[in-house]
Amino acid sequence: MKLIVANWKMHKTRAEARAFADELGHAIGDGIPVVELVVAPAYPLLDAARDGRGRWALGCQNVASETEGAFTGEVSAGMAADAGCTYAIVGHSERRRLFGEDGPVLTKKVARCRDAGLVPIFCIGETEKERDAGLTAATFVRQLDALEPDPHDRPLVVAYEPVWAIGSGRTATPEDCGSALVHIAELLSARRNLRLLYGGSVTPDNCRPLLGAPRTDGFLIGGASLSAESFAAIARA
Ligand code: PGA
Repeated sequence: MKLIVANWKMHKTRAEARAFADELGHAIGDGIPVVELVVAPAYPLLDAARDGRGRWALGCQNVASETEGAFTGEVSAGMAADAGCTYAIVGHSERRRLFGEDGPVLTKKVARCRDAGLVPIFCIGETEKERDAGLTAATFVRQLDALEPDPHDRPLVVAYEPVWAIGSGRTATPEDCGSALVHIAELLSARRNLRLLYGGSVTPDNCRPLLGAPRTDGFLIGGASLSAESFAAIARA
């Protein structure tokens, strides 16, 4: 089963989210049996983006590192689960870069997802500078270090999103994507319940060869997920 996740970031109104849901429902009919779809909108859009027929699940793009309390502006994993989310994106590079999120806080966020029964979609990836300096593998090790061992082996999704590929129109080659995912799988070899995604400028035009790369279980999609038509086209591919 491939996993295709829409990361809407800070886009859309409720009316636009509803229109997307209508269009996506129309485009996929009774659903695509071999593909699990997830839509991760901003919190106020969760209801509008929901599918009454369960053909896609809901995710959120972030959760608080704490459970409850005086944390103005935060949304807890429990609240997201209560609002219907089953997945939560954690450690997206925009959160890392713009909001200073890193190791320990991400460890806590993953733990809060576990407490709430959300499946974390943990994002990692090297910057262009790290890549040029030959530090890609070291970056993976450092970022994955935030994941504590899980004796229960609960479901985990790791998204490899090279920072230079996000929103840039530049994608990793299927070879680069495959070797990165194989390496990540080796680093996480103790986990059975692991799915690996690629993210970074995935479109209907470039998704097929990327999906053929070794260890690729699906995609985390930003820009091309904003249109139901292109999201459905990727899911169908
Ligand atoms: P993109 O974003 O598809 O627009 O490159 C991917 C992401 O940030 O998850």
